[in-house]
Amino acid sequence: MGCEALRVEVADGIATITIDRPEKRNALNAAVRREIVEALDALRADDAARVLIVTGAGDRAFVAGADIGEFAARTPAEQRASMQGRSPFEELAAFPRPTLAMIRGYALGGGCELALACDIRVAARSARLGQPEIRLGLLPGGGGTQRLPRLVGYGQALRLILTGEPVDAEEAARIGLVDIVVDDGELGARTRALAEVMAAHSPLALRLAKEGVRAALELPLGEGLRHERELFVTAFASADGMEGVRAFLEKRAPVFTGR
Ligand code: COA
Repeated sequence: MGCEALRVEVADGIATITIDRPEKRNALNAAVRREIVEALDALRADDAARVLIVTGAGDRAFVAGADIGEFAARTPAEQRASMQGRSPFEELAAFPRPTLAMIRGYALGGGCELALACDIRVAARSARLGQPEIRLGLLPGGGGTQRLPRLVGYGQALRLILTGEPVDAEEAARIGLVDIVVDDGELGARTRALAEVMAAHSPLALRLAKEGVRAALELPLGEGLRHERELFVTAFASADGMEGVRAFLEKRAPVFTGR
């Protein structure tokens, strides 16, 4: 894959993408953004990657946002062009398998938005999350103005975006910005344990379930419920659905194939 700033591993059904620029607090430069998209392409084609964990290297930061040094060197036209290519945020949000953000230290700006693009956010107590772009005279550009209010509500989203002040892990959990808070020393094990539970389930059912919940953020209720029924019948008609039901009745562990 030719990764410079990313480490990608797949083991025991769990893929891990580690953004690896700890000396720059894992800031998202053009290379990292491109490599995330490439890594997601490769993992989408890899059936061994049933669940994805996204994290940052070192203990200071998950990701400290877009690379501010690159901003300074770009014209507005270049910035627009760079935002019109394939977006790591959108590709991550649409990744058809469960995704977990494993957050230690700062998740700011694009780092917070990368976490928002994941399905579940697990934070260490050291985590600090926020959208500080306003301090630079800017605003979130990686989905923050859209995903944050969907997750934490209008008022809390605007508080974070308009003050630029980060919140700690406990407060992030209280407002729904992160889902689980654990001690720093337990972050890896607890995130992995969660991923393992999901990785043991039917890959097809996982994909359909995620599709259903994602649709809830976009569709009116009636349409969403109709969509859910179709997804349910698709799972019901699958080999995995049949296997899961049969295994329960036969009092044995199911063997899922993803079909
Ligand atoms: N873009 C580019 N470089 C960044 C960066 C970013 N978003 N965040 C951190 N860095 C770099 C620093 O410039 C510094 O580089 P240097 O050693 O070459 O001077 C290095 O990472 C370490 O940063 P430092 O500020 O010394 O680390 P810290 O642990 O004391 O503080 C932060 C960490 C994240 C609080 C602080 O770096 C920060 O506020 N970063 C910017 C966050 C931001 O505004 N993000 C939104 C961007 S739109």
